[in-house]
Parts: sequence; C-alpha cells; structure tokens
Amino acid sequence: MSLKPLVIDKLVAKVPIIQGGMGIGISLANLAGAVGKEGGIGILSTAQIGYQEEIFEKSPMRANMEAIKKQFDKAKEIAKGGLIGFNIMAATFHYDRYVKRCVEVGADVIISGAGLPINLPELVKGSDTKIAPIVSSNKATKVLLGLWKKRYNATADFIVIEGPKAGGHLGFKAETLKESIETMDAEVVKIIETVKTFEEEFNRKIPVVFAGGVFNRSDIDHYLSLGCSGVQMATRFVVTEECDAPDAFKDSYISAEEDDITIIKSPVGMPGRAIKNQFTERIQHEQIPIEKCRSCLSYKHCDRETIPYCISETLLNAVTKDPQHALVFAGANAYRLKEKTTVKAIFEELTAD
Ligand SMILES: Cc1cc2nc3c(=O)[nH]c(=O)nc-3n(C[C@H](O)[C@H](O)[C@H](O)COP(=O)(O)O)c2cc1C
Repeated sequence: MSLKPLVIDKLVAKVPIIQGGMGIGISLANLAGAVGKEGGIGILSTAQIGYQEEIFEKSPMRANMEAIKKQFDKAKEIAKGGLIGFNIMAATFHYDRYVKRCVEVGADVIISGAGLPINLPELVKGSDTKIAPIVSSNKATKVLLGLWKKRYNATADFIVIEGPKAGGHLGFKAETLKESIETMDAEVVKIIETVKTFEEEFNRKIPVVFAGGVFNRSDIDHYLSLGCSGVQMATRFVVTEECDAPDAFKDSYISAEEDDITIIKSPVGMPGRAIKNQFTERIQHEQIPIEKCRSCLSYKHCDRETIPYCISETLLNAVTKDPQHALVFAGANAYRLKEKTTVKAIFEELTAD
C-alpha cells in the first residue's frame, strides 16, 4: 500500500517522513532542502546554526539569528515549494528569541525537545507556523498538553515521539534504556490514546510521528500500524551527498561497527547516543575545561562551573576539526550504513510499494 501524505492542519507533506533536526551543522539548508524537495519535511537545527558566519566567534547570537534566515531561504529555494522547519532545543539559551526568529522568517513547522517547550504556543501565536513537542513518554505528553491547554487553551499541531534508539540526546535514563526499547511500542500506543483525548477536546486532528531507529519501509509500516501518521528519521540522512556534515563525519558512520555505538553522559544532564572514539574514551576519566563559553544553553541546563566538557565546543569540533576527537552523535542503527547515498535514493526506496 502506498504511503499517505502527512497532513498537519493546512500543511501537506506528500511523503509522511520528517527529517530530524541535527545539530551542530549536520542538518542545514542542503539536507533540509533536499528532503523538502522529495515531499518530506526538511528540518534545520538551530543549534549554533551560524557557526560558519564570519561574526560567529565574536557574536554567536547575532550569527545564529542571521543564519536562521540565510539557511531557511536557501533550503526553501532547494525544496522548490516543499516544507521546511526548525528544530529548536527547549534548553537553548534565549529559546524565545530563536522561536520568534524562526516564525519571522516563515518556518512551516517548529519541533522542540531536549526539555519541555512550555511556552511554545505563546511564542508562535498569530502565525502560520505549526508546532510539535518531542516527547518520550505518555507521562510527559499528558503533562505538556495539559499545561498548554490550561495556560494557553492551545494544543500541539502534531507530536513527535522520540524513542530510545534515536541519536543525540535521549529522554530516557541510561540505566533503563534496554528496557525502554522493549516497552516503547506499548508506550507509543498509550501516547496516541492520550493525544486522542486532546483531539476530541480541540476538535481537530493531531498527527503523531515516531522517531528513533526507523530505518526501512517495514519500520515505517510498523509505526503506521500502531496508529502513527508518519515518522521522523535522522541517522539515515547523515550519509547522503546532500547532508551538510563534512565527509570525515559521514565516514565515521560508515566505518562504525555495532559495538561502536555507545551511550555517553551529556553535560545537559541527559544521556546521548554517539559513536565511540577517542573523545568518548577521554570523557570517561577526564574533565575537559571549557575553552570558550558561547552561551548555547540556559543556566538551568548547563552549570558552567561543574560540567565535564562543553557540549557546543565538542559538537562544533565534530564538524570543524577531526571528528575522532569530538562528539559524533548517531542513532542506534548508524552501524548499518555502509555506503554514501542520496536523499532522492532514500525516498525512492522508502516510498516504493
Ligand atoms: C547527529 C545527530 C544530531 C542530532 N541533533 C539533534 C538536535 O540538535 N536536536 C534534537 O532535538 N534532536 C537531535 N537529534 C535527534 C534526531 O532529530 C532524531 O529525532 C533521531 O535521531 C531519530 O532517530 P534516528 O536517528 O534513528 O532516525 C540528532 C540526531 C543525530 C543523529
């Protein structure tokens, strides 16, 4: 059976695949634009999005604000009318300024995780930008949607459930990750039930999208059979020609074996999934002093005095220096990728009946 479009209010993605936002510098205009062009939704990550701007070292915030427009306009041009949005981590320092800027440039959607985006409805009010929180449990879904209803009499335009096989920061405890993998399908069903109660209250459809370890068409069909309306995929898009990461970053995916995929402790206070390398070994027994704080995270999410290393510094190093000595985030399936491909080829494979 062919895949049905993903309909988010008035937005229609011909293919129900969202490309997950990947910071720093992994999902920028080239990747997001290519995904939008194929009929999916391309997502730019706002995490230090302006790192290639000349003024970045002097004024990261200004560089990021400028790059939001530059990258969005470029992605839209590549997408030829396709849908483009942003991933903004709720833990971002001056989160509200990032959201407002993305709305101002005309984002089709904003997806926010790494913390609960409590005031997101208020920040996009009056705009056409559609919003989705990233949730990993039924409890978080109930809390957040309950809060949005109470505070703003508003609800989500769609929901992204991120499971324990995802890349980057994870909304699960490291100790219970294995167990969470086993119980995730049941959790997805519960979340969909919760979302239904909000659909009834607000008399509108709230599509649910699943992310984390979605690799092939049978994975997509599986999540659709559980009641999801689409999927979000990130890891598979890293080894495409269009992906904005440098070749050395992509090569570390291609050469990874299954036991090279590891869980690290992020200074953000969450576990993260990455590829084992000299950096992940080093942080096991060493605190790496911050060379320069670029104020990427709010003080609540980053205690500048005690963190084991700077998350921005190491993610920047992964795209500007040797990724062997930096944090290379990756999903649980990264080791299954053995050669470079294109976004077009991935879409052809996943949409073939
Ligand atoms: C390299 C990389 C960077 C990521 N960066 C972010 C990010 O900045 N913000 C975020 O919310 N999720 C981030 N993610 C998570 C993805 O958006 C996505 O939801 C998840 O990886 C999906 O699972 P998959 O990679 O198995 O397809 C990242 C994932 C990867 C692989």
